[in-house]
Amino acid sequence: MPTLAEIAHEHSETDEASLAHLNSLLAEWGMLADFCFADMLLYLPTRDSQFIVAAQVRAATGQTLYDTDLVSTMADLVERETIDKAFRSQKVVSGETKIEGRTEPVNLVAIPVRFEERVIAVLTREWSQRSGRKPGQLERTYLAIFDDFTKMIAAGLFPFGERGADASVAPRVGDGVVVLDAETRVRYASPNAVSAMHRVGVSANAVGQTLAELGVAEMAARHAFERREPVVEEVEQTSEITLLTRTIPMLKRSGRQVVVTGGVVLLRDVSELRRRDRLLLTKDATIREIHHRVKNNLQTISSLLRLQSRRLKSAEAIDAIAESVRRIRTIALVHETLSHEAGEDISFIEIVRPLLRLVEEGLQSTDRPVGFRVVGDAGRLPATVATPLSVVILELLQNAVDHGFPEGSEGGSVLVVLDAGEDSSLRVKVIDNGRGLSPDFEITKATGLGLSIVRTLVTTELAGTIQVRPAVKSDSNKEVSIATDGRGTVVELKIPTARV
Ligand SMILES: Nc1ncnc2c1ncn2[C@@H]1O[C@H](COP(=O)(O)OP(=O)(O)OP(=O)(O)O)[C@@H](O)[C@H]1O
Ligand SMILES: [Mg+2]
Repeated sequence: MPTLAEIAHEHSETDEASLAHLNSLLAEWGMLADFCFADMLLYLPTRDSQFIVAAQVRAATGQTLYDTDLVSTMADLVERETIDKAFRSQKVVSGETKIEGRTEPVNLVAIPVRFEERVIAVLTREWSQRSGRKPGQLERTYLAIFDDFTKMIAAGLFPFGERGADASVAPRVGDGVVVLDAETRVRYASPNAVSAMHRVGVSANAVGQTLAELGVAEMAARHAFERREPVVEEVEQTSEITLLTRTIPMLKRSGRQVVVTGGVVLLRDVSELRRRDRLLLTKDATIREIHHRVKNNLQTISSLLRLQSRRLKSAEAIDAIAESVRRIRTIALVHETLSHEAGEDISFIEIVRPLLRLVEEGLQSTDRPVGFRVVGDAGRLPATVATPLSVVILELLQNAVDHGFPEGSEGGSVLVVLDAGEDSSLRVKVIDNGRGLSPDFEITKATGLGLSIVRTLVTTELAGTIQVRPAVKSDSNKEVSIATDGRGTVVELKIPTARV
């Protein structure tokens, strides 16, 4: 569908300033259509003295006459007469037209759109008696408001252009309407407006009282009346209730003056929306709380497992459960740390230290003391990296203890080296000076659960690499050389940390 500007450029002599005025009108005319319960069309005069439909809007409050889109069609002879009359006389003109497929005549009101000293377009309201609503007080009031807007349009006082205050975020007619006189006294409040005011504690009949007396949105109305332009304001009526209001002053020319004859307040209860906004603000806190709960749940699971293992006879089964408990506690540790952090990033060293303690506590015998140490720093890591990586490190630490210092050996030390390299990859080394790997060891052939977990997490989840090798005397790696004196095992991980 062509835009207003496209149609204007192709068919008419409308200049840019006039186009801007018409665009402002289009930003507002959903409201106009709602007030008059009818279809509205915007006609531009063409170069060959015809009128072309440049835009069309339907009312949310009434039935449409037009199932089809009329944009780019020309006014037919009958309607042209009325439109042309409005255009030339600069006055609102009523007439009739016929619509294909309808027997009854269609009412037509043609409103000249004035900009500066000229009429630049014609706005029409088209309705049939049959499609109209049964007149009640609301209908009469809205039509009277529409009538006032009509006069403002013909007088060049509506739309407000740049000063219009963004109508797109404003409440709509269906949300609630309060009609004011020039003293901000309520002349009418639509049922939805009454409900909204009721929620903010206005229980009495508002009609006849000023907004100041009612204690609702009086500042906004005062500003709108003083500046002679619409004011959008969000009123935090109570901590629970927030009203979004748009107050439009109704204007009239009186000699060379423009006077305020009253106003229309569109209002909407946005409490629910704002409540959700506030929740978003506390999203960080919520995420922390979730991590806290995940941690608690994991602790519950590990307690359950421990209870279960007490009933077991098989030493192998008890061991297996003890290991599961340790793995679960590791993940709980990550969530525990995340529950103290602001975002989804985590200072990894805060996890590694308690991880070492966890393994240390798990050491069954004191006859072969093992010292644990961590050097370096891994910086901050996203939780998606930190969680699997901590599980991996736990397995490596456990292996160092289990296989480096088995029963009968004399103990030693385990060193974790963290190095957040310049190349956006993280290097982790777990070094022990224990008994070392068996000569036929090959990581790809290792069938234990521990290294399987390590392999899976490192290669798939973390997209990194693993190397397991024996430490040698005067190891090319200084740390290894010092820590092991040529004995034991080195496991080295390289994990890319660059975020996509
Ligand atoms: N630090 C180490 N020192 C010596 N040998 C090791 C070391 N780490 C791993 N190994 C060898 O690799 C094997 C596989 O380790 P893996 O962790 O997969 O299984 P596991 O420790 O035997 O059993 P699980 O971890 O499932 O309880 C071990 O049995 C051990 O022989
Ligand atoms: Mg293991």
